[in-house]
Amino acid sequence: MALRIRDLEVDIPLALAPMVGLSHSALRSLIVQLGGAGLFFTEMLSAKRLPCENEKRSPFLVRDAAEKPLIYQIFTSQEIELECAVDRLAELHAQGIDVNLGCPAPQLRKMGAGLELSRQRGTVTTIIKGLRRQTNLPLSVKIRLGETGDPAKLLENCQLYQDLGVDLITIHARLDSEKFCRKPRWSVLGKVTPKLSIPVIANGGIFTVDDARRCLEQSGAAGLMIGRGAAHQPWLFRDIAKELYNVKPNGILSNEREVYSRFITLLEARFVPERRLGRLKQFTHYFASNYSFGHLLISGIQNSLSMNQAVQFATDFFDNAA
Ligand SMILES: Cc1cc2nc3c(=O)[nH]c(=O)nc-3n(C[C@H](O)[C@H](O)[C@H](O)COP(=O)(O)O)c2cc1C
Repeated sequence: MALRIRDLEVDIPLALAPMVGLSHSALRSLIVQLGGAGLFFTEMLSAKRLPCENEKRSPFLVRDAAEKPLIYQIFTSQEIELECAVDRLAELHAQGIDVNLGCPAPQLRKMGAGLELSRQRGTVTTIIKGLRRQTNLPLSVKIRLGETGDPAKLLENCQLYQDLGVDLITIHARLDSEKFCRKPRWSVLGKVTPKLSIPVIANGGIFTVDDARRCLEQSGAAGLMIGRGAAHQPWLFRDIAKELYNVKPNGILSNEREVYSRFITLLEARFVPERRLGRLKQFTHYFASNYSFGHLLISGIQNSLSMNQAVQFATDFFDNAA
């Protein structure tokens, strides 16, 4: 069951995905408390800005020591940014560095990062080589299936990263152009994973224990990464770990209301006041689908002008739902 990434031993091969505005310290800590996740990724961080961020105040860098192992995901398009970024990540005690090679967001593509970087063969080679030269930390990349999902092309790409010294590849099982609502193509990974010597983590469309089981079977991956499902049901890792890896649950929270209010407590503990409400709104967008009248929770939180107002609305909502 354990996953080895260079010299990093991951007990349970279930990872929280990098997600802007969601994979921050509060959600990571909540998942740590619920149990079941063996690996965490930060949201994508600008390699250029990283050296200037204050780890005590920046919402991107605030972290509790229990959130580990934590791989910091960076986006970049220039080798020149790497040296300072790698030094900073070492200071922050990163357990690994991941390069975003799969994000199709136009802002990222415009600067030649994310998915765009993966298409610039020369530049991506220079960047990965540079990172490998500068750090002994586990190095990973997160990619998509490519333009067509051709397994031969995907394998060629993965082998390139492996040859450049990458220790782990996460594959989001959707084509470059596909939206998150499209069905993931886990079986394409199954044609690639047996031919690589480094581990692959499969990602995309895992919302239940059954999804996790089928994804593992079809992809042959060494582990799974969960994105939106983690904000929808932060206890999903615990459920999958119990069913698929025989891990005894160590979770301390018993119902959805308690999970939501623990999340609020963690937001208040980790972030300065002006950084809390936006993150609560984003989390609620996913969490609310646990309730048949969840759209009311979403609109109440979205329309709240302060954290106090949001907390009051949530209290009333849960009282009525009980
Ligand atoms: C709100 C949001 C933000 C995301 N931000 C990132 C990111 O910073 N870096 C990245 O590599 N992928 C990002 N993704 C993609 C996820 O990591 C993941 O690949 C995708 O959501 C598919 O997994 P899922 O079906 O389990 O959600 C983001 C996805 C969402 C929904």
